[in-house]
Amino acid sequence: MKVLITGGAGFIGSHLADLLIARGDEVYALDDLSTGSLNNIAHLKDQPRFHFICESAQNEAVMNELVQKADHLYHLAAVVGVQRVVESPVRTLEVNLHTSELILKLAHRFDKKVLIASTSEVYGRHKVNRPLKETDERIYGPTTVGRWSYAGAKAIDEFFALAYHRERDLPVVVTRFFNTVGPRQTGQYGMVVPRFVQSALRGEPILVYGDGSQSRSFTYVGDAVKAITDLMGCPSAVGEIFNVGNGEEVTILELAKRVKAMTDSSSEIRIFPFEDVYGKDFEDMEFRTPDIEKIGQFIGYKPTVDLQEILLKVIEHFRDLDAATSQHTMEVNQ
Ligand SMILES: NC(=O)c1ccc[n+]([C@@H]2O[C@H](COP(=O)([O-])OP(=O)(O)OC[C@H]3O[C@@H](n4cnc5c(N)ncnc54)[C@H](O)[C@@H]3O)[C@@H](O)[C@H]2O)c1
Repeated sequence: MKVLITGGAGFIGSHLADLLIARGDEVYALDDLSTGSLNNIAHLKDQPRFHFICESAQNEAVMNELVQKADHLYHLAAVVGVQRVVESPVRTLEVNLHTSELILKLAHRFDKKVLIASTSEVYGRHKVNRPLKETDERIYGPTTVGRWSYAGAKAIDEFFALAYHRERDLPVVVTRFFNTVGPRQTGQYGMVVPRFVQSALRGEPILVYGDGSQSRSFTYVGDAVKAITDLMGCPSAVGEIFNVGNGEEVTILELAKRVKAMTDSSSEIRIFPFEDVYGKDFEDMEFRTPDIEKIGQFIGYKPTVDLQEILLKVIEHFRDLDAATSQHTMEVNQ
């Protein structure tokens, strides 16, 4: 099968490329490298079935050619990370709306099956802590709070995908990722697990944004990419929305303590008000746990990697990176 991944040099995209290459597919990974990295796909560069295209998913001529060539499309390209969303609101809306609109139009033109990556952020800020179901309401703050633009844009992407399916019979699958983590994710744009692990390994303060009582549930990237390929192979998943997550919950303060203990770090854990990081008009959600019954029913999905193992993998990843960097520095200095 020929597969197009937009955002293919990103965190989830590069793991998806690994899985597809391993099962024998031909992969076209398009990425503008805005948050993705060539390092994420360096190990695939000599693989004849892997093709990297350094381009924007907004380039219609390039996308037209790639969509025509591919059998399956995974649309992962997006502006992501709370920090980037808050700092670049125009780009967030432009990329997250226009790229999805374009890929759906082209998928329809060439009658190709497409997966649209959405997010648990579309649920907004529910006040009661219970697992969120795909049919639950969306509860957002006002449009003056820039953070919600990401959720708003992704929700429009979902509307667009479902509209193409209902009105024009396009085979679409929508997946809402819940805090997906693992090796290759960068902490640069506010993602909490890599940020905590890097601070702990460097002996720098581990900054807990907010008061730390907010809880999240973390999904291993390997579980997430297996889930989305299974969904693309499942005929009854067409026209449906799925949570992709892991029900295991942890507060952010508890996460910081676990990372500190697991890295044997001397870092101080410091509480840092949201206002000091993201400015005055910022809102967060207290809870975010997925109900994964639906995806379980459709493809038998069950998370296989728990938080402890995820943290071990991420810690090992950053230790390896640090070791490779100091080795390189030694060689340069010799
Ligand atoms: N990681 C998570 O926890 C999570 C949670 C919810 C949703 N998602 C969604 O999953 C998808 C992948 O996210 P990720 O975590 O791998 O982040 P990521 O930043 O690593 O991946 C996004 C990729 O898209 C690329 N990109 C951005 N704009 C582009 C453009 N205009 N043209 C081409 N490429 C572009 C980036 O360079 C990056 O490689 C995104 O759609 C994101 O919204 C991720």
